[in-house]
Amino acid sequence: MPALVLLGAQWGDEGKGKATDLLGGSVDYVVRYQGGNNAGHTVVVGDQKYALHLLPSGILSPGCTPVIGNGVVVDPAVLLSELSGLNERGVDTSKLLVSGNAHLITPYHTTLDKVTERFLGKRKIGTTGRGIGPTYADKINRVGIRVQDLYDESILEQKVEAALDFKNQILAKLYNRRAIEAGKIVEELLGYGEQIRPYVADTTLILNNALDEGKVVLFEGGQGTLLDVDHGTYPFVTSSNPTSGGACTGAGVGPTRISRVIGILKAYTTRVGAGPFPTELFDDDGEALRRIGGERGVTTGRDRRCGWFDAVIARYATRVNGLTDFFLTKLDVLTGWEQIPVCVAYEIDGKRVEELPYSQSDFHHAKPVYEMLPGWSEDITQAKSFGDLPKNAQAYVKALEEMSGAPISAIGVGPGRDETIEINSFL
Ligand code: IMP
Repeated sequence: MPALVLLGAQWGDEGKGKATDLLGGSVDYVVRYQGGNNAGHTVVVGDQKYALHLLPSGILSPGCTPVIGNGVVVDPAVLLSELSGLNERGVDTSKLLVSGNAHLITPYHTTLDKVTERFLGKRKIGTTGRGIGPTYADKINRVGIRVQDLYDESILEQKVEAALDFKNQILAKLYNRRAIEAGKIVEELLGYGEQIRPYVADTTLILNNALDEGKVVLFEGGQGTLLDVDHGTYPFVTSSNPTSGGACTGAGVGPTRISRVIGILKAYTTRVGAGPFPTELFDDDGEALRRIGGERGVTTGRDRRCGWFDAVIARYATRVNGLTDFFLTKLDVLTGWEQIPVCVAYEIDGKRVEELPYSQSDFHHAKPVYEMLPGWSEDITQAKSFGDLPKNAQAYVKALEEMSGAPISAIGVGPGRDETIEINSFL
């Protein structure tokens, strides 16, 4: 059972941190393969709560090597501050590995992200403002700065100057901002380079060797399936591929290595930022889900938009990721509703549609078709096995499983590490 992928099956924030942490003890490597510090994991260990943005959640498991793969974009200032925050709380971070091929988020990327959003006005994406999009754009435009460039001063200077020659024109002429001095950026980056040097490695070689030795490698996706730049609700997406194929390109492992793909699925739906969301609620139920579920972004502090479970999305996630299992999270948040609506299909221009429409215009018009499932009022946070759940909660899980197209192998019934029901082991 060498390589598993764990990813969000909806719009992110499904509770991946908890799932990774649950597996952490038996996993040798936890790898992030895309995104950057736009992600947000909350991991609860004992009475300690950790909010991670860039680091893989495996950093909290002593036996595990955390890896930042080539597909990730790294803000070195954030990396260092996250590391020192953990060190201050007694967490050993010395095993961390960072790919030399990962691209760097520099201050000009963050500036460009923010001013572009402002410039877009009503058409803005609602990005996290962390420089993610501009950094990936530079990567694809072949004007990006990679971690390895920090160790060749003259190359670094040339690359930063080339990038800024162009960007300063945009900043000054289009956005009316002051130009950014290349020398200052180079100096700042060189300083970070020295501090992160001990972690920088050829991570694809290390990971492939580990797989050859039968080690367990867990690839941890940031964001979620519907925020994927290819398979998500474009343009209201992030700039990378959280879907399972992204694990291969973003870590340098072949698809033949991957044995299991686990989708994290919240028992209801949330999203942050702009874009279509068919089951979104604007009433007291939406407010209640937000309050009970603590639906506020770990990274941005923004309130999340909340809605009922959408089986069309779950089926789509099964398809585009080749999911083998689901980890259903936050089932406890639904305790107390007499009836729980579940979206089983959409109505688009008067027609019932069972699959996610590929046309963005259709998706914008999609109205949810709901089926009502009976709720439960008993506290479920102490449930240790599927049989401990109230009958209606069991039926809710079974119904979701049937509609979503892959077995639900674990259920989160509370935020704590042990508040999980394991049905089939992931390992
Ligand atoms: P970006 O990733 O900062 O460029 O933001 C693009 C879109 O992805 C926005 O709608 C963000 O709110 C959303 N997004 C980015 N990261 C996350 C995440 O970890 N969870 C949920 N939404 C995210």
